[in-house]
Formats: sequence, structure tokens, C-alpha cells
Amino acid sequence: MFLDFATWLGGTALSVAFQSHTWLIALLQSIHILAIGVIFTSMVIVALRVLGKVRSDETLDVVWARFSPLIWGSLAVLAATGLFLAVGEPVREASALSFWLKMLLIVAAIAGALMLKRRPSHGLAWAMILVWLFIIFLGRAIAYDVEVWGSWHLGGA
Ligand code: HEM
Repeated sequence: MFLDFATWLGGTALSVAFQSHTWLIALLQSIHILAIGVIFTSMVIVALRVLGKVRSDETLDVVWARFSPLIWGSLAVLAATGLFLAVGEPVREASALSFWLKMLLIVAAIAGALMLKRRPSHGLAWAMILVWLFIIFLGRAIAYDVEVWGSWHLGGA
């Protein structure tokens, strides 16, 4: 179903326009990667504060208030650039198991970030660092989906 939709999307004028301007894809990827740096370092600092490793002189609320605009702002940039990247190569994304796992983990990471603010715990702080690392790995693994997942690649190995 998703592959059919992706095949249709890949033939639309918008997708063809993206495909024929490779510099635009490179620009979107660069912005995507910069935003990854911002969201990851911000989340790690919040997690380290929960673990008591940094900024112990400030409350978690103060640290959260400082970094949450960076976290939500860069997430919005990631969602927007990611969406355009997906429109540019819809079949490649829809057939990549890494892409779908990454989307699932992003939902889990958002829920975890909200929970970390309400009910901070050391276990959740470590889990958040791990989940964000997995998201970054899966983002890069999209380009190597067949090599990473073999026959689990959704487009067939
Ligand atoms: C929020 C929605 C997001 C969408 C729709 C999205 C979508 C995409 C797409 C379509 C690509 C191109 C993959 C390819 O074809 O090679 C990509 C690359 C990537 N994404 Fe995302 N992404 C999102 C968020 C994130 C987040 C939150 C992270 C990590 C913090 C992330 C990490 C990466 C990485 C590491 C790459 C590989 C970049 C490269 O090496 O070229 N993405 N993403």
C-alpha cells in the first residue's frame, strides 16, 4: 500500500522537480544533519542533567526551559526537511525498513522527552540517549538498507 503510494508520489511534478535539482537534496540533507547536531546535543545535556552529571546547580526545569526551544525547533526543521527529502525519493524511503523504524523511534523519543520532564529517572535518561543514537544510526542506514537488513528490506533484497 505504502509502496504504491510512493510510486505514485515519485511520478508527481513536485517529486520530479526535486529529483532534477540534486543540489536541493544536498541542501536539505545538510540542514537535516545540522538540526540532528542541535537536537542530539540538547537532549544529551537534558539527560545528563537528570543523571546529575552537568548543571547540578540548576533545577531540571531551568535546564529544560533553556533547551526545549532548541529541541522542538530542530525537530520541526528535521520533520520539514525530512518530509521534502522523502518526497524527493519516495520509493527509496518507503522500501527502507530503517526509515519506518526511525519514524517509530522518533515517536518514542518524543514521548520519552515529555516523560523525562514530568517523571525524570536515571533509566529513562540513559534510554533517551540510546534511542537518539539509534535514530541517527537508522537515518544513515536508510542509504544502506539492503546491506543492513538483507531480505527484511521492504523492496526485496
Ligand atoms: C521528524 C521526521 C523526519 C523525517 C520525515 C526524516 C526523513 C529523512 C529522510 C527522507 C532522509 C534521507 C535518507 C536517505 O534517503 O538516505 C533522512 C536522513 C537522515 N536522517 Fe532523518 N528524518 C526525520 C527526523 C530525523 C531525526 C529526528 C534524526 C536524528 C536525530 C534524523 C537523522 C537522520 C540521519 C542521520 C540521516 C542521514 C543523513 C545523511 O547521511 O545523508 N532524522 N531523514
